Amino acid sequence: MKAIITAVAAFAAAAAAAPTSNNLQTIRRAMPAITDADILNYALTLEHLEDKFYREGLANFTQADFAAAGFDATFYSNLKTVSSDETTHVAFLTGAITKAGYTPVAECVYNFGALTPKTFVATASILEGVGVSAYLGAAAEIMSAAYLTAAGSILTVESRHSSYIRASLGQSPFPSPFDTPLTLNEVYTMAAQFIVSCPSSNPALPVKAFPTLSSAPSNGPITVGSTITLLTPGSVVTAADGKSQIYAAFITVTGPVFAPATATTGGFTVTVPKAPEGSAPISGQTYVVLTGCNTTVTDDTVAAGPAFFEVGPL
Ligand SMILES: *[C@@H]1O[C@H](CO)[C@@H](O)[C@H](O)[C@H]1NC(C)=O
Ligand SMILES: *[C@@H]1O[C@H](CO)[C@@H](O)[C@H](O)[C@H]1NC(C)=O
Repeated sequence: MKAIITAVAAFAAAAAAAPTSNNLQTIRRAMPAITDADILNYALTLEHLEDKFYREGLANFTQADFAAAGFDATFYSNLKTVSSDETTHVAFLTGAITKAGYTPVAECVYNFGALTPKTFVATASILEGVGVSAYLGAAAEIMSAAYLTAAGSILTVESRHSSYIRASLGQSPFPSPFDTPLTLNEVYTMAAQFIVSCPSSNPALPVKAFPTLSSAPSNGPITVGSTITLLTPGSVVTAADGKSQIYAAFITVTGPVFAPATATTGGFTVTVPKAPEGSAPISGQTYVVLTGCNTTVTDDTVAAGPAFFEVGPL
């Protein structure tokens, strides 16, 4: 039995918060009151995931495996540095949370799937991109200036990892003039797909996962104007009245860009829209959620997602 997810239109809220073009305030998308300890533990949750991912990958694959997959002679040692950076982030955040008198979350059990060296690096690229968007989205919620600077100094390193790994996959290291901030729940929705279970002693975080949305494999590079398929495995997304339009909201720092979503077997098709002139383009690692309205994206209006995929230059 598939869960029926009703996309909330939220017209009243939408009218109040209707974004104007380039309204940077739209990046603060109605998050609940969250403490700095919550934010630090949220960051630590992601760092644990990345740390374990690289340690497992380095245990699974040798330098010769990466060389045979086409990565250059410096790749393996650079990967070890990336891995060590993540281990250091875990130690730093664990220490900061403990020092502030809170309980740091411990590592969970993860399932990254059966990876090849190439799919390992592709997954690393996705995780680094999500990491950048997570720190960027959380920045506006951090109260303490010292924590904000510390988080910023981790964010810039994650973005350097992202660029390096993207370049090693033959992708543009800097595919957009803007990075995309994501809310805690949006990030957690994607992270949760790798998490099998966490220690019951971990403090509960004020985050929830939205229903899963995934992008179906595409036959070629996706650009603005491409039609993509978004799948809703495990759920059926409908409008409250059964006939209103469902939208795909492409998230950018200058506000969501909406496109109508057309129901198809197992999900929706949608054409990647062009962002308005002067706003952040839809380019690079792109995140899209399903909504029941085309004016605002909040935790109340997201019906599923985000799904993520790469949008290349036109
Ligand atoms: C490492 O290999 C195990 C066993 O095949 C697999 O379950 C795990 O997902 C792999 N992890 C990484 C990060 O490659
Ligand atoms: C938003 O939806 C309204 C109908 O509810 C429609 O008239 C309008 O063109 C839509 N705008 C976008 C950007 O999709």
